[in-house]
Amino acid sequence: MEKVLEYLKKNNKRFIAELCEYVRFPSVSAQPKHRKDLKNCADWLTRHCRQIGLHTRLCPTAGNSILVARTRKPSRTSSKKGKSSKPHYLVYGHYDVQPAEPFDLWDSPPFEPSLRGTALFARGASDNKGQHLAHLNAVEAYLKTGTELPCDLTFVIEGEEEVGSRNLTDFLADHRKDLQCDGVVISDTGLIGPRHPTLTHALRGICALEVKLTGPSRDLHSGIFGGSVGNPAMALCQLLAQLRDKDGRIAIPGFYRDVAPLSAAERKHLARHPFNETAYRKFLGVAQLEGERGYTPIEQRSARPTLEINGLTSGYQGEGSKTIIPSWASAKLTMRLVPNQTPERIAKLVTAHLRKLCPRSVRIEVQEGHGGEPYFVSPDGIRLQAGLRALKTAFGHDPVLMREGGSIPIVNDFKKTLGADTLLLGLALPDDNAHSPNEKFDLGIFAKGMTMSAYLWRELAAIA
Ligand code: BES
Ligand code: MN
Repeated sequence: MEKVLEYLKKNNKRFIAELCEYVRFPSVSAQPKHRKDLKNCADWLTRHCRQIGLHTRLCPTAGNSILVARTRKPSRTSSKKGKSSKPHYLVYGHYDVQPAEPFDLWDSPPFEPSLRGTALFARGASDNKGQHLAHLNAVEAYLKTGTELPCDLTFVIEGEEEVGSRNLTDFLADHRKDLQCDGVVISDTGLIGPRHPTLTHALRGICALEVKLTGPSRDLHSGIFGGSVGNPAMALCQLLAQLRDKDGRIAIPGFYRDVAPLSAAERKHLARHPFNETAYRKFLGVAQLEGERGYTPIEQRSARPTLEINGLTSGYQGEGSKTIIPSWASAKLTMRLVPNQTPERIAKLVTAHLRKLCPRSVRIEVQEGHGGEPYFVSPDGIRLQAGLRALKTAFGHDPVLMREGGSIPIVNDFKKTLGADTLLLGLALPDDNAHSPNEKFDLGIFAKGMTMSAYLWRELAAIA
C-alpha cells in the first residue's frame, strides 16, 4: 500500500494535467452538435485506460459509446479455469456533461480548464470526469507499482448519463454474464465537506416530461386580436400553477400513493446532519426557503418527491418588446421520485392530469422524456461498512451516511440486471456548481478520492 500511496503523491501534478485534457472535450450529450466531441472524448479515455494497463474496449451503441476497461483479461470461454478467486467490482462513471449555457455567466470558458485556488474550473470537472478519474488513478498506481490489486475491477464509463442512460440499460442486459459482480462503486454524488466524507445510500428517481400548448396557427398582433383568443403562454402558466398547493404539496391526485413514509428513526438520523439554515439560504441566494410543509429542508431535498419546472419557453425572447400573442408555449418538467414511486406510473398520472386541466382554447401535447427509478439500500450492509472505513482512512474524519436528492438512473438497473448493490462514494462539494456556471472540482478532494479508492479495494477484499 505504501508504494501505491507514494505513487499517487508523486504523480499528482500529472493527474491534474490529465484531468485538464479530459475536461477540454465539450462532451455535452443533450446537444446533437456535440456528437463528434463525445466520440473524441471517448477515444481519449480509451487511450488513457490502455496506457495505464487496463484491457479496454470501446463498445458502440445506438447513441454514444460505452467504455469497458478491466484489470483482468476477459476470458474467451466462460470455463471455470479462467475464473478468479478475487471479488469483482464494477466502477461506473460518465464522460458526458451537462450543457454549459449560459456561457456569459462563466468566469472562464467552460471547456478551457482554469486552475484557481485549490480548484479546477471546467464543465464536467466534478460531474463526473474528475470523480471517476480518481478511481482510474488509484488503479494505475496499483498496476504501475506492481502491487497486487485485492479485487478484480471493471470500469464501465458511459456517455449518456445526463440524458437518462437509455443505451446502457440494454448494454447491461446484453453483457449480464461478463459484468457479473459483487458490487458496484460510483463516485458521482456529493460529500458534505472535506471534514464530512459522505456515503450515500439512497438516490431519488426521476421522470421527465415536456408539455406544449398550441393556440393560434401563428403569432398574432396582440392589439388586433388580444382579448378574443386564448393565449398559450397564459394558459400554460395557469396550468402549471395548479400543480402545487399552498403547502408545497404536489396537487396531482394519486401522486403520493406509493411514497414510502419516512420512519421516525430515519427522521432522527437526518436531523443529526450538519445543516445551518442561514448559511444554506445565503449559499443559495434566497431570502427564504420554501418546500413541502411538515418536512425539514434535508428531508425535502432528499427523501420527498418533487415536481419542478426546468425550462419555460414562449413568445418573444429578444431585446425590447414585441406585441404578440404567441402561437405556442412549452415547459420542461421533472419529477423527483422516492421509494416506491415508478417513473412509468408518474408519467401517466401527470400527463392525464395536465390533459384534464387544459382549457379547450389550446391544444396540448405531452412528450415523455427519460426516467429512472429511485434507489435505496439499507445503511447496515457489510460492503457499506467497508466503504465507510475507506472514507475514514482517506479523509481522516468520520463519514456521514446520507440520502441524496439527485438521480443516477442506471443504479437500479445494476440491481435489477446484475443483482448488485451500489456503493456511492461522492467527491463533489456542495459548492462545486454541478449543472451550473463555474463548475469546479476541488483538487484536495481529488487526491483524497484517489487514496480512498486505493484503500477501498483492500477493505472490500477483506470482507469477501
Ligand atoms: N452526478 C449527478 C447525480 C447526483 C448529483 C446525485 C448529486 C446525487 C447528488 C448526475 O450526473 C446527474 O446529474 N444526474 C441527473 C440525471 C438525469 C439527467 C437523468 C440528475 O440528477 O438530474
Ligand atoms: Mn450531472
